[in-house]
Amino acid sequence: LVLVLDFGGQYNQLIARRIRECHVYCEMIPYYTPLKEILARKPKGIVFSGGPASVYAPRAPRIDPALYEAGIPILGICYGMQLMAHDLGGRVEEAQGKEYGKTMLEIISRDALFEGLPSPMQCWMSHGDYISSPPPGFQVTARSEYTPVAAMSDPQRRLYGVQFHPEVKHTPLGQEILRRFLYKVCGVKGDWTVSSFIEEQVKAIREKVGKGKALCALSGGVDSSVAAALVHKAIGDQLVCIFVNHGLLRQGEAEQVRETFGQTFNINLIYVDASHRFLNRLRGVLDPEEKRKIIGEEFIRVFEEEARKLGRVDFLVQGTLYPDVIESGTETAAVIKSHHNVGGLPADMEFELIEPLRLLFKDEVRQVGLELGLPEEIVWRHPFPGPGLAIRILGEVTEEKLSILRQADAIVQEEIHRAGLYRELWQSFAVLASMKSVGVMGDERTYAYPIIIRAVVSEDAMTADWARLPYEVLERISSRIVNEVRQVNRVLYDITSKPPATIEWE
Ligand code: XMP
Repeated sequence: LVLVLDFGGQYNQLIARRIRECHVYCEMIPYYTPLKEILARKPKGIVFSGGPASVYAPRAPRIDPALYEAGIPILGICYGMQLMAHDLGGRVEEAQGKEYGKTMLEIISRDALFEGLPSPMQCWMSHGDYISSPPPGFQVTARSEYTPVAAMSDPQRRLYGVQFHPEVKHTPLGQEILRRFLYKVCGVKGDWTVSSFIEEQVKAIREKVGKGKALCALSGGVDSSVAAALVHKAIGDQLVCIFVNHGLLRQGEAEQVRETFGQTFNINLIYVDASHRFLNRLRGVLDPEEKRKIIGEEFIRVFEEEARKLGRVDFLVQGTLYPDVIESGTETAAVIKSHHNVGGLPADMEFELIEPLRLLFKDEVRQVGLELGLPEEIVWRHPFPGPGLAIRILGEVTEEKLSILRQADAIVQEEIHRAGLYRELWQSFAVLASMKSVGVMGDERTYAYPIIIRAVVSEDAMTADWARLPYEVLERISSRIVNEVRQVNRVLYDITSKPPATIEWE
């Protein structure tokens, strides 16, 4: 185990990711975690992250200096290095100008971190303070034009610091530097893999659950699917999954979830077809937020009814991921947030949470899914909103419109897959506008719905850019939709980014 102490820097999640990519298990914890707790976890190494503060600011994040005496190797990055310098008797000062961006690094002394690396090498800097003199016992190992101490180390005490950010891609050899710290300085082996993760989790889940019963709300999305498959591997029939079909799913989706989980995995799956209930309640509703509210409420009601039939349930399985855990900061906040994921739970039902993915990043979750034998279509599935097609039909939701949208959407999915573009896109889908336009087909006048195609690239859905789909792909999608889907006579492509638009149309 390697621990990353979080001082609030913007690249901190990346540090944890890069360490995992070296096949070393690591966790990120707040910088104020008590020394006793840190030592009790027996880390093989500690990384101090970057952070926005200045070490000499009155409320700057600090650590217990006894940590330096614990004999654990430490790597300080940016603020982390400045803190180390400050605590151990060096000098940190405000720089005349901030150093930001790609910078050439000159290696002065090849310690364990820089052994065998070229000099000069490119690195990424982002700091306003700099170390003007290193602490006693430290050697300066690298410098840049404006930063006299761009890296420093005290190999005897196994304390290392870098001013630049080895975790970002703009430091092309950054991963090598981290690897050297982990393997050479900390002496870890790098044997953490997805299969070892699965083994550990299976064992831990078995111990935790004992003879108890666990419940999981399966949505067919990546996270809940992988969580369910993992928990099922551990406790078999002691896990019950509930899958609510609200009638707003895409073509073939309900069948695929039933087939994968009910048949292939032989999971104890309760499939509830509640389409009519949802559609009844959505009749005549035009407002998007109203639709969301109704669907959310109805979902809780259906889920609750089914959960009650099961009698006593001890555990609830959730597919919470590491970014949620890190972002919400404290453990308590993470739990509150994950309750929201299920859309609310019966207030008088008490269970403990099982969150087997809470330490994984999305790409690791996908690897776990593949390793567990989940089909690629589930593992690589684009995000799909909880309210489903209801917010992709502008205006009132009806059976007829659902059927048209499903067919059109299936064509979009097929053609995007066929063009090999699926994994490059964040989402791609069809939207049905509740209006009609005039067209002509085989000498006949038509009066039918338009379909809007939306395809975006994005990192995290906070911002998104419309995808530059090749014209040929757009053309195939367009001609197939108007030819194969009755009631559609026009296809439009949405070329708006987010902001100012959103990804969904409602
Ligand atoms: P927007 O449309 O806000 O979407 O740009 C950002 C991301 O969130 C998804 N989305 C939702 N997911 N319930 C969900 O579970 C919702 O009501 C909802 N609305 C939007 C959307 O698909 C995109 O990935």
